[in-house]
Amino acid sequence: MYQSQSVIGQTVGSKDAALADCAWPAEGLDAIPDWVYTSQEVYDREMERIFHGDTWNYVALETEIPNPGDYKRSFVGATPVVVSRAQDGSLHVFENRCAHRGAEFCRHSHGNANEFVCPYHQWSYDLKGNLQGVPFKRGVNKAGGMPRDFRNEDHGLRKLNVTTHHGVVFASYSDKVEPIEQYLTPEILEDFNVAFPGKPLKILGYYRNEVPCNWKMYHENLKDPYHATLLHSFLVVFGLLVAGNKSMMLADSKHGRHGIMGSAKTDDLYAAVSEETKKEMRSFNDGMRLRDERFLEFIKEFDSPWSVTMQTVWPNLVVQREMNTMGVRQIIPNGPNSMIMEWTMFGYADDTEEMTRHRLRQGNLMGPSGFLGLEDNEAMKFVQEGVRRSSSNVNVIKLDSGKIGTSESLISEAAIRAMYQYYRGVMDF
Ligand SMILES: [Fe+2]
Repeated sequence: MYQSQSVIGQTVGSKDAALADCAWPAEGLDAIPDWVYTSQEVYDREMERIFHGDTWNYVALETEIPNPGDYKRSFVGATPVVVSRAQDGSLHVFENRCAHRGAEFCRHSHGNANEFVCPYHQWSYDLKGNLQGVPFKRGVNKAGGMPRDFRNEDHGLRKLNVTTHHGVVFASYSDKVEPIEQYLTPEILEDFNVAFPGKPLKILGYYRNEVPCNWKMYHENLKDPYHATLLHSFLVVFGLLVAGNKSMMLADSKHGRHGIMGSAKTDDLYAAVSEETKKEMRSFNDGMRLRDERFLEFIKEFDSPWSVTMQTVWPNLVVQREMNTMGVRQIIPNGPNSMIMEWTMFGYADDTEEMTRHRLRQGNLMGPSGFLGLEDNEAMKFVQEGVRRSSSNVNVIKLDSGKIGTSESLISEAAIRAMYQYYRGVMDF
């Protein structure tokens, strides 16, 4: 019998446990309790300690805001922010929340402005987030208005620290967080610099979709090479990722919070998959052929042993280098049971027209309706439905048990364990 019951949008019983009752299961890192995915109290602590804590959060690509006055709406955790370029060329990130009554004043996803004016009472701010003007500050006819000691300098927008690396913009609430290059760690930085060598980028387009799952599941998905060989029959049938291919699942050795899933494509488009491997995969389909083989063409353009790398940079960034299709994905938590994914697909400013066409064509691998991106979204939705609405309360993370961090095997959950080892420390679980 079920010990707790749940209805959509609301859970009762053991999953509603207050933080004090959140004891990690006795299995340690071989288990993940459901409450990390469903509890509002856990989510609130994550916003405070992780997204507003000592982390660098991806907010934009510099190429999206190249000129003075350019701005972009973005997020740090669930908190709306604005990324802007001031007249002197400097970059600024501040909360998209009027210092007066809290209105989310910036309403456009991108634009160019001389100043930001809140639509509610028309308080205005400069491009660095400083309060410039308060209408009727001195009242009317010597009545009303702000107190004499009201100083604009004390009522600017809440500003975050900003840094960039090779055109990628990060923001932080913390004054203690290390420089971005150290934050990324040498292992991650090396592959980061493959996708972002410092040359100008060209934006190819955006997708945005809600995924009805907890934000951590997206990190787990990309630290879970096991599923990639099973869920994504497309990868297997067309030789992009086959159990047994040259591959890696790396976790950074400093904290284990960032990761890279990498694989090297076989040269043969329809690489032979061994009978033994086929038997393990119910979704394998031997007979599939592509109508347009240009789709999977891999134009070697990077100095890297990997044709595919998926980087997870804690806490909100995924860098996708899937053959020649490049993108960044920004994870925006939206309550414990939902997240928004913002995809920014890009190429390089010096790409030929043909290369741009190729990247756009190959972009159909991923994205909300791509050949394999949708499968992850569906699977994570299924997991959230399960952990939110049924009763066994624990997830089993035993593949490659005992190993925490980087693993040579794809049939491993060692990188997920590394992430939760770090997470439990930050969260005091
Ligand atoms: Fe996947």
